[in-house]
Amino acid sequence: MAIGHRQNKGVGWTNGVLARYDLHLAFIYLPFFRLERSRMKFPSPQNPDDAEIDRVNPYRSLVETVSQHIVVNTAGRPTDDEVGGVRELLGQWQRVVCELGSGSGRHLIALAERDKDTLHIGMELRYKRAYRTIEKAMQLGLTNVFIFRADARYVQMLFSAASLDAVYINFPDPWDKRRWLKNRLIQSPFVAELGGLLRPGGFLSYKTDHADYFASAVAIMRSEPSFLEQRVTTDLLASPWGEESVPTEFELLFRAKGLPIHYALFERRAESSCADQKRI
Ligand SMILES: C[S@@+](CC[C@H](N)C(=O)[O-])C[C@H]1O[C@@H](n2cnc3c(N)ncnc32)[C@H](O)[C@@H]1O
Repeated sequence: MAIGHRQNKGVGWTNGVLARYDLHLAFIYLPFFRLERSRMKFPSPQNPDDAEIDRVNPYRSLVETVSQHIVVNTAGRPTDDEVGGVRELLGQWQRVVCELGSGSGRHLIALAERDKDTLHIGMELRYKRAYRTIEKAMQLGLTNVFIFRADARYVQMLFSAASLDAVYINFPDPWDKRRWLKNRLIQSPFVAELGGLLRPGGFLSYKTDHADYFASAVAIMRSEPSFLEQRVTTDLLASPWGEESVPTEFELLFRAKGLPIHYALFERRAESSCADQKRI
């Protein structure tokens, strides 16, 4: 999924990699997506593509070994069975938070360790990152971490209305070429969907290094009547919320380079005040 281009213009090997990592990932992952697509067309266990995908991406098989923590496992539309499994899981927990594009799970796991009574779900497409997250959770004995290896765009299919206490979006792929903007996760209809999935008083938290994406995402959140602005800063570490913030993997890389972290938190309004907001 991560086929974008970041705006980091530093020097040195790490900066160069960061500046172009999305482009590199395109070359590395495009063959996987082709294979994955063809596998979905012919889902027979004997499909020779399966062996090929395993050869190319060993994490596909590794994900199967932790399947008790992977409730959905598809890059396409989740099946009815998977949706049923999700509903069963969610029904067992009073509080649920979800991180979209959770990467290797650094942030999700830290939250889950702090609050073991809350179910923590990461939606993450990449096998390796999904596997790494569950591996860490199991090493720590956490039973409140699950991965939906699914496209975050299916979030509305997987959660019911007003079922989430928090949604985190950390360092989403910026897709910053004009012709790629349509691929950004944070778009107006999607933010409205998230508003519908959050409980009143729940919140949407967003962090990025990318100033343009931040400006457009905050404008979208401000215009969504179900959300109330609580925190917006273009320099998280210099803000009153810097200390309490749990860093993500990508955040640590950007921080190490001295780049400012942009952060916003919007609270889900109560139903009645949403209606008032729409009338204004
Ligand atoms: C730039 S990385 C950030 C990872 C992590 N949030 C962090 O801050 O360290 C973006 C992550 O989102 C995942 N991703 C991108 N598009 C996605 C989508 N539509 N659904 C689920 N995951 C997605 C990528 O695989 C990648 O792990």
